[in-house]
Amino acid sequence: TMRKPLVAANWKMNGNAALAQDMLQTLAGHALPELDVLICPPATLLQPLAHSAHCLLGAQNLSQFSDGAYTGELSAALLSEAGVRYVLVGHSERRTLFGESDAVVLAKMEQAIAHGLIPVFCLGENLQQRQQEKTSEVLAKQLAAVYASHPEFIGKSVVAYEPVWAIGTGEAASPEQAQQAHAFIRQQLANYDAEAADSVRILYGGSVKAANAEELFRQADIDGGLVGGASLNADEFLKICQSAK
Ligand code: G3H
Repeated sequence: TMRKPLVAANWKMNGNAALAQDMLQTLAGHALPELDVLICPPATLLQPLAHSAHCLLGAQNLSQFSDGAYTGELSAALLSEAGVRYVLVGHSERRTLFGESDAVVLAKMEQAIAHGLIPVFCLGENLQQRQQEKTSEVLAKQLAAVYASHPEFIGKSVVAYEPVWAIGTGEAASPEQAQQAHAFIRQQLANYDAEAADSVRILYGGSVKAANAEELFRQADIDGGLVGGASLNADEFLKICQSAK
């Protein structure tokens, strides 16, 4: 199967209007026709990045509710109206720092898809789980929490494997470790819908940088990256994009 690579920037709570301009200018100067480039800025920077011909727009979070008295929340419908097409769901920082359970993650997946947003469903094991050789079990459980009840979501999602121990640590998973996890994720998804599992893009995230991107992206089941720290520099992020197969 030909899966079009996707390289996504997750700025987290970083960046500013100047970075948004810099990123737009850098991307405009370099054609990347065989690749989808996605920028997920803080919500206040969605507007200046909307409707660019050079990148897709994603939000970092959305509400699990559709509308109503939920002070400070942003619904899928509001994001969609603002030009957002993708949204991160289940990022490990949301799960661990903000207490998002599998049930909340599922509700957010449902909201995103009901409103035509493409969720980037994030999952991954932490260091202790890896050391106890529970990686497969953890990944299977995180996948099941969403896709067992909604196999039709596979074809409407992007999946991002982010081993928690590799996020922001400078220590990426080795290409072999990452490939093994990606193949396992695809296999699990195939239990729910074989055809959709073959087409779904699975991104690797966790200390991706220009120096390691090419080797990671070359792996059979790695279809691109979800880049945090290294996406805060337009030139570095461009190099990572150019490394996508
Ligand atoms: O969403 C991005 C990931 O959490 C990776 O972050 O590239 O800073 O390790 P990082």
